[in-house]
Amino acid sequence: MTDFFGSIVNIEDREFNFLKDIIYDKTGIALAPHKKIMLQSRLNIRLRQNHIANFVEYVNKLKNDKTFYNQEIPEIINRITTNKTDFFRENHHFEYLKNTCFPSIEEKAKTTGRRKIRIWSSASSTGEEPYSLAITVAEFFHGKPGWDIKIYASDIDTNVLNTAQKGSYKEERLSPVKAEYKTKYFTLTQTDKEKEFTAKPILKDLLIFKKINLLEEPYPIQEKIDIIFCRNVIIYFDKPTQKKIFNQMERLLVDDGILIIGHSETMFGISDSFKFLGHTIYQKKTITR
Ligand SMILES: C[S@@+](CC[C@H](N)C(=O)[O-])C[C@H]1O[C@@H](n2cnc3c(N)ncnc32)[C@H](O)[C@@H]1O
Repeated sequence: MTDFFGSIVNIEDREFNFLKDIIYDKTGIALAPHKKIMLQSRLNIRLRQNHIANFVEYVNKLKNDKTFYNQEIPEIINRITTNKTDFFRENHHFEYLKNTCFPSIEEKAKTTGRRKIRIWSSASSTGEEPYSLAITVAEFFHGKPGWDIKIYASDIDTNVLNTAQKGSYKEERLSPVKAEYKTKYFTLTQTDKEKEFTAKPILKDLLIFKKINLLEEPYPIQEKIDIIFCRNVIIYFDKPTQKKIFNQMERLLVDDGILIIGHSETMFGISDSFKFLGHTIYQKKTITR
């Protein structure tokens, strides 16, 4: 908290450890000791907004006031998550969908008759990832009637989920998006100062937004999923947590379903239920009985 003179209120080890344990328990995010200053600076605003003088008082209130605890935990989660994302981030994943995955699903549909695809962006942040998926789907399946396609977009952080649901982005956020797609898939609103781009219904109609905590099982998705994007989130979790999440995702995937993780993440030593296809793309192994 900035006091009268605008200074920051410090957090001591005892309070840091208490908050670190709650955060781990609720989100799976494991904060190393060197993250103390980061936690301190992100939570200073919560002290100010709650008119609390220091972290000892804050922690005591969390321990003793159940109503405060229940209101405050989602706020702590929203403050602690790292939401960095971009449109078409790690573009090779979208190229893989367009050039390999969707054509193969289309081919399979000729024999199975299953013209249904479910995709899940499981840490969707402010929405750039699920909208990039929606553009990829809209482009590939344009003029191919009879397909039933939905994209689940979920995150633990309710602030970013609200932004995603709104689907409005400042011009600079759209810079990785091709000019052609900007006009095709977004409506431009021009104010005095800036341009804002809002996703058109052709994209929004593909999306289903949900708050999902990857730590809370079973996941509230009642149908099998063909493709899961779980990118740049497991990096914050320890190995046992990663194992739990991938087990649950494996159960949710169709046979041969695809799981895509982030560039600095790996499945090595975490799960052997997936076959590595290259470029952080994995495929669920089919069990032969
Ligand atoms: C760095 S962003 C990644 C966004 C996107 N997947 C990408 O790669 O561009 C990580 C996201 O994971 C979310 N997250 C963190 N812990 C989570 C949990 N336990 N369950 C669901 N989402 C979580 C954060 O709120 C954040 O929006």
